[in-house]
Order: sequence, then structure tokens, then C-alpha cells
Amino acid sequence: MISMPRVNRILQHRSYEEFSDKNKQAEAERVYCRHGSDHGLAVARIAYIYLLEKYIEDRGSLSEAGTNNANIRLEESYGVGKESIYAAGILHDIGRWVEYESQEDHALAGARLARPILRDCGFTDAEIERIVIGISEHRLHPDKTSSILGQALALADDWARDCKSCPSKAACYKYTKAMEDILI
Ligand SMILES: [Fe+2]
Ligand SMILES: [Fe+2]
Repeated sequence: MISMPRVNRILQHRSYEEFSDKNKQAEAERVYCRHGSDHGLAVARIAYIYLLEKYIEDRGSLSEAGTNNANIRLEESYGVGKESIYAAGILHDIGRWVEYESQEDHALAGARLARPILRDCGFTDAEIERIVIGISEHRLHPDKTSSILGQALALADDWARDCKSCPSKAACYKYTKAMEDILI
């Protein structure tokens, strides 16, 4: 198990709590998917699983000696370890409320708002750059991202939705029958 003290700091950060609350208020009447902390955590977990599976498919086993081996291998191969992947997932929609207020793309607003939170929580400059690029790319088609983290977030964002049991799917612009399949 790889502990994540910096991710736990994000969850306790005043700005994270404030922006999560603003998202909740802005989406109180929304009938489609909401973007609360549960969605952020689901995306974080699925993005991490996706990158672990991708590593195994691309390069073989992760299970050589050392408890932090998987983390080291992901860092070496994709430039992002477990904490960066989780931080990106948890923060990817943190700017959603900004889009409701000003129509600014929430991926770009989220990248901007995430930066000082990540700094406060002890992420390095290099880690912050990769995380904010991933956040800024999370709405792109997964084949169009420049970063592997952006691709993981874009895929996880769709896979995190329970479309099959959604009462609003008939009117949802995102819904397709294929989204009812569990892929990860
Ligand atoms: Fe989003
Ligand atoms: Fe999302």
C-alpha cells in the first residue's frame, strides 16, 4: 500500500472545501451527473487503475521487489506517481462552479485553481505542471490529449458515470448505450 499524505492534505485544504461547496450549490438542481467530491474520488481511482493496467500491458509486471515499486514504475514511465494521479482526479472538476458563473471552460479554470492548492500541499513544481496539464486536458477526446494523465482523466471521467441507472439518460447529450458497459 502506498500512503498519500499530500492527497489527504488536499482533502482538508480550505480552498478544496470551499470550491467543492460552490460546485455543490451550483448543481443543486442539476438532473444530470453532478461533480461533487464523490465524482472526483471515483475519477482518481479509475485513472490510477487505468494507468496500472496500461503499465502492465505496455511493459509487463509491476510486482518486482519493493512495496513502492508500482509507484516508482509509474513515475519512471509516465511521469506521474500515485499521489499525482489521485491529486489530478480529485481536483479535475474543482473549477466547475466557475463555468456556471462565467462560462469559462472548467478544465482551464480548474487547472488555475488547483495550482496553489497543490503548492500548499507539498507537490513539487514538476509534479504541479504535470497535474495541471492533465486537469486542463480532461475534457478532450482521450486520443487528442498531449499527456498520459490527461488521457487517463478523460477516460476515467466517462467510466466513472453510472449511466445504466441514470434517470436522466434519455435527455443527456453524453449518453450512448456503450456508456452502460463497465470497462474498468
Ligand atoms: Fe469536467
Ligand atoms: Fe469529471
